[in-house]
Amino acid sequence: MIRIQVPATSANLGSGFDSLGIALTLYNQIWMEEEDGIFISSRDGLDVPTGEDNLIYWAAKQLYNECGAKLPGLRIEQQSDIPMTRGLGSSSACIVAGLLGANRLLGNPFDRHEIVNLANRLEGHPDNTTPAVLGGLVASAVENRRVYSVSVPVAPKIRFAVLIPPFELKTEVARGVLPQEVSRQNAVYNLSRSALITASLFSGSLENLRVAVQDTLHQPYRAHFIPGMEQVFRITYELGSYGTYISGAGPSIIAIIGDEVSQDFENYAVTRLEEKGISGWQLKILKSDSHGAAVFLD
Ligand code: HSE
Repeated sequence: MIRIQVPATSANLGSGFDSLGIALTLYNQIWMEEEDGIFISSRDGLDVPTGEDNLIYWAAKQLYNECGAKLPGLRIEQQSDIPMTRGLGSSSACIVAGLLGANRLLGNPFDRHEIVNLANRLEGHPDNTTPAVLGGLVASAVENRRVYSVSVPVAPKIRFAVLIPPFELKTEVARGVLPQEVSRQNAVYNLSRSALITASLFSGSLENLRVAVQDTLHQPYRAHFIPGMEQVFRITYELGSYGTYISGAGPSIIAIIGDEVSQDFENYAVTRLEEKGISGWQLKILKSDSHGAAVFLD
């Protein structure tokens, strides 16, 4: 069997709505081989779709179709460490896994760039799919169905304190509340900050982040879906966050921190939230993944 490992991703980074994303050191693993029929199971006991509607299978089938190859069927075993519907790119990870797995089974007819384009066409959010494939901090723009992107490494001292709430938020719902039009003032507000956050994370100019993550395009409209968000932001800043933002469409919240405050976050973040009556949130301290998705022969 082949094994595909795909990182979680955090889109937007506050101001870079639909444009910026980062790969994180939290992974889904998928084992795959051709079979006559569809055999899908979860190695960690999760209730996963076991038919053609399974996202990994569906994406693999799209790649076979692109190549004009017939898919006899697949055996898929998945281990999903990326929590689902939490704004951490779990759907992107499944789609990228299906594409990369199928590509390997067919002898790698597509290069990474073509996988990036295909993933965007299937998923629709290049700010999640592109960092999942390439790793790093990724800026992407789409023109004529092609993704133009750059992946840069993040300064090594940076950590991402990911606060994951005990409830889900579907991306369609979180996008449904956004305005169709924005003012020039708000466009410039976000443009300037998304440029600043990219340069700041690359160079390690962490003092800029508090301003650079600010956003007018999506977070204010999504806040009401995340009870306790204000306190989560406040507590992360009290514990030393450089910049805190809603991950992707939410509901997870990420604080960008230096390694020196990781232990304080481990010790106090969840406890302080519980003291405020905000319970059930989990904390994961992650780094930026700089390699992206990978395929192994197990
Ligand atoms: N940029 C997208 C959004 C990410 O914020 O809706 C969705 O995963």
